[in-house]
Amino acid sequence: MSHEAGWAHAPGALRGPAWLQAPGDANALVPHLWSTTAQKVDGELHVGGLAVPELVADVNTPAYVLDEADFRSRARAFRDAFSDYEVFYAGKAFLCTAVARWVQDEGLSLDVCSNGELSVALRAGVDPARIGYHGNNKTLMELRRAVSVGVGRIVVDSFDEIERLASITAEGMTSRVMIRVTAGVEAHTHEYIATAHEDQKFGFSITNGQAMEAVRRVLAVPGLELLGLHSHIGSQIFDSSGFEVAARRVLALQARISEELNVTLPEMDLGGGFGIAYTTQDDPADPAQLATEMSKIVEHECRALGIPEPHLSIEPGRAIVGPAMCTVYTVGTVKQVQLDGGAVRTYVSVDGGMSDNIRTALYDADYSCTLASRASDAAPVLSRVVGKHCEAGDIVVKDEFLPGDVRPGDLLAVPGTGAYCRSMASNYNHALRPPVVAVRDGVARVVVRRETEDDLLATDMGDQ
Ligand code: LLP
Repeated sequence: MSHEAGWAHAPGALRGPAWLQAPGDANALVPHLWSTTAQKVDGELHVGGLAVPELVADVNTPAYVLDEADFRSRARAFRDAFSDYEVFYAGKAFLCTAVARWVQDEGLSLDVCSNGELSVALRAGVDPARIGYHGNNKTLMELRRAVSVGVGRIVVDSFDEIERLASITAEGMTSRVMIRVTAGVEAHTHEYIATAHEDQKFGFSITNGQAMEAVRRVLAVPGLELLGLHSHIGSQIFDSSGFEVAARRVLALQARISEELNVTLPEMDLGGGFGIAYTTQDDPADPAQLATEMSKIVEHECRALGIPEPHLSIEPGRAIVGPAMCTVYTVGTVKQVQLDGGAVRTYVSVDGGMSDNIRTALYDADYSCTLASRASDAAPVLSRVVGKHCEAGDIVVKDEFLPGDVRPGDLLAVPGTGAYCRSMASNYNHALRPPVVAVRDGVARVVVRRETEDDLLATDMGDQ
């Protein structure tokens, strides 16, 4: 597809989305998309001081490679930047016992949103007092377990849940709670991951008075200690204006509570949702900048409302684990597909797909990737990286320039897969979910092993 005026002028060449530029050097990494220890050495991707081709020769592909130093440094950066806050790592992004321990080591608390995540946290030895428990439909049994192990706070999401908690505290137990409110903010993100507008399942609406009513009901339950209000406006957010509007509305409610009920709520949680760079389109703020902006907003609003500043907490998930992981695949087939109008699309099939990263199919998410096993001088060709599942929408990377000689047996690595890829992985087509291999200072440790055929069949009871 070479052309004297460059690849983009060749007949049949696809341009791809406007933001995607053909790389000057297809062998180089775009540093801010990768974990901090990632680098190319003679065309081979290295992470945590290890050559990825050697690493996957042991564990096979697909595999998630988790850069421990990167995870820890992002966790520390949030803890240091938000030093006056309590920082909860949102375990839904990715959780295993090793990661739960790193979170605790780095001085962060842990947000769980299910009994399963709570089990992982407890198995890891996380102090229950440092655990926050979320969910819009917690059962009586789940709540009883959370209260009896002594989680630090339960984030209440419905009137039914308040009744369930009341029946538990009536047995003599106590619990600290926060109330999840919807601030009516439209975060500029995908509809399914924006959570503070009114028409969705989470929280109590401030506008229709349910949030105030929830506060009254919680305050009336003996054994429940109301810490404060909780607002999470969505995910993959780059712009602090959404947090600003939400904080203003939540603090206005806080002021009403102190005026009408004469209660000063000591805490407030502004949720997670801080965006990361998946591709060169994204330009996330760093934690220090976020901390400065968010603190300024809260300070300003509290002064204007004449209320004391609550002790703040946040719940970043993606921004800590997202960039710390990449997924490594082996190329299986390369196919040129003729499109209407004469253009040709190069489809590169890898040995994973929507079972290890559903985000492209589910949210139309953009990713990037690089050839991880060798250098190549071939001209870059706009390519689509697809999985091996029986579904046309099984796309891993919609558009990326890969060297034109990518062939079966090559390794491809996709950065930024730490958040919501392994945690939303499935066994679709009875795929075995890949391992997570932590790397640090030249040492690799499998922290989650690959599933086996026996795992896959363990719940299949046969037809007897
Ligand atoms: N706090 C609460 C109450 C949440 O609901 C969430 C995410 C977080 C914190 C963490 O948000 P983060 O900092 O990780 O953006 N599966 C979707 C994201 C769903 C997020 C659900 N809640 C995705 O793959 O983008």
